[in-house]
Amino acid sequence: MRNINEDNITQAVLAAMSGCRDKRLWTVMVSLVQHLHSFAREVKLTESEWLEGIKFLTGVGHITDERRQEFVLLSDTLGLSMLVTTQNNQKPAECTEATVLGPFFVNGAPEYENGDDISNGAKGLPCFVSGRVCGLSGEPLGDVEIEVWQSDEDGYYDVQYADVAFQGRGRLRTLSDGRFHFRSILAEAYPIPHDGPVGRMLEALGRHPWRPAHLHFWIKAPGYEPLITHVFRNGDQYLDSDAVFGVRSSLVVDWVDHPPGIAPDGTHMDTAFYTLDYDFVLNPVEQHQ
Ligand code: BEZ
Ligand code: FE
Repeated sequence: MRNINEDNITQAVLAAMSGCRDKRLWTVMVSLVQHLHSFAREVKLTESEWLEGIKFLTGVGHITDERRQEFVLLSDTLGLSMLVTTQNNQKPAECTEATVLGPFFVNGAPEYENGDDISNGAKGLPCFVSGRVCGLSGEPLGDVEIEVWQSDEDGYYDVQYADVAFQGRGRLRTLSDGRFHFRSILAEAYPIPHDGPVGRMLEALGRHPWRPAHLHFWIKAPGYEPLITHVFRNGDQYLDSDAVFGVRSSLVVDWVDHPPGIAPDGTHMDTAFYTLDYDFVLNPVEQHQ
């Protein structure tokens, strides 16, 4: 293989991969190489632009560590995460829609009982969350794991603080009738981390980094497709310009504000508080006989 030119290089790279034994890897890489080459041809990529791209990706790698996932942010802000989520979560219209996982999920969140306060010291106005998990035919799904995570009143997740762990996140199980309820804090709109390469990219593109206020849910029920989603707060100014393209109308609900008084769990609240009620519908896993 010599004297490669701009007309035959794509074919040469594809031929070099002909020994790949993993069929799926081969399919993905053939397409990736073809699209990358088409992109370079289409925009007539210059050498200095190519070098800028390499520097950018190097920066994305350098800032990424256990607590900061710049590659996920890049995928999210380019709409790739939401595209992958959407094409892998086609389900009947009655089912709750999925949205992006995001970079702030962490394993090992504490387990709570229904009624517990999962804020665990995170700052914000109290918010009482309740709802129900059921299957497509309305069957209540009891003893199902619900994982939630959220930002505090300053728009930060616990993992964004150097010395904080497991605030505003937790796991609980639905009751036998599919219901669940817990106390937390009011989620606020926040900018995704934008002090790195992805933030500079957004700035250069004339884009803002904000996400509308939301609460993350990951629901796992045996026999049903797992559901990774958010519930968004109606009225938020960023619902139509989410930096990661994750908003679905079906996930936007009223988070009701209440003056000081009696909360749903009977507690007397000296401050204003919020309530949020949302029911989730899971899609049964197809049975292959
Ligand atoms: C999040 O909702 O936690 C999130 C999603 C994508 C990028 C940044 C944050
Ligand atoms: Fe979030």
